[in-house]
Amino acid sequence: MTMTAESIQTAAVLGAGTMGAGIAQVLAQAGIETRLFDVTPELAEKGMHTIEAMLQKGVAKEKITAESAAKVMSLLSPCSDLEVTVSGVDLVIEAIPENAELKKQVLQENATHLTPNTIYASNTSSLSITDLAEAAPYPDRYLGLHFFNPPPLMKLLEVVHGEKTSSQTIDLACDLAKRLGKHPIVVKDVPGFASSRLGLVLGLEAMRMLEEGVASAEDIDAAMTLGYRHPMGPLKLTDWVGLDVRLAIADHLAKELNDQRFAAPEILRDKVARGELGKKSGQGFYGWED
Ligand code: CAA
Repeated sequence: MTMTAESIQTAAVLGAGTMGAGIAQVLAQAGIETRLFDVTPELAEKGMHTIEAMLQKGVAKEKITAESAAKVMSLLSPCSDLEVTVSGVDLVIEAIPENAELKKQVLQENATHLTPNTIYASNTSSLSITDLAEAAPYPDRYLGLHFFNPPPLMKLLEVVHGEKTSSQTIDLACDLAKRLGKHPIVVKDVPGFASSRLGLVLGLEAMRMLEEGVASAEDIDAAMTLGYRHPMGPLKLTDWVGLDVRLAIADHLAKELNDQRFAAPEILRDKVARGELGKKSGQGFYGWED
């Protein structure tokens, strides 16, 4: 039977970090039974707690009812066995660290447990979908589905068309985006796609301005929040995304596009080397102890 966005009933999300947990929540909110995988039961459980907290915030803000929050939780299950997680599901979304070798290795480990209909997507922010697809058993059903942090609140879904991704898969992904309440944009598989390439330039330039002493972090951010109506300034956003994540993307784009605009500023490298990774570590361009 041909798969359609509406016929997707089961999904696996690989990686229960910020993005994986958020994506699993989005899928469950659309009525899809979702297994949330991470390498240890504790990490998978931690992802479940992240979702629970986000749902409770929605209840407190009267965006969702307590009943629907409970229904969403009932559709989610934590899992630390990769084979069990992906066996027989209609959709897999991989949200593990931005390491091409690791992503390919996981794809290969999954290969024999996927059905001939399974749609397999990577949430990568910048790695080549065409390159990753070399490890995919069905490259025509392999694509990029790039969500934004926090996935339950952000409307955009970047749908990345690898060289071997079929047009049916892209159409299905766009329909799925709408089922999830997202706005899809279809992007060619170029380094940084549309969003990371643009977003990173702003973030890196803000860091260079901070290094040069142009203004304080707060004031550079205020230039964008108050002057351009961005919901969050570029430095605070970097703390949110993770300084290590942004550094990995910058290094990748500087190399792939051979472009100094993406060269990582020293302040970013130094902070990552010191373990100042942003919100998740308690310190980035701002302190996040609370
Ligand atoms: N369920 C449903 N709605 C919820 C909710 C929940 N659990 N929690 C909050 N909301 C609603 C709130 O009620 C509020 O709605 P209204 O605007 O209608 O009142 C809205 O969501 C915003 O929530 P808050 O008021 O709690 O939070 P905020 O106003 O401080 O906004 C934010 C938080 C949405 C994150 C905002 O700061 C923002 O948009 N920041 C920028 C985020 C961004 O740029 N993300 C992209 C990062 S880059 C990336 O992800 C790509 C990559 O590859 C690295």
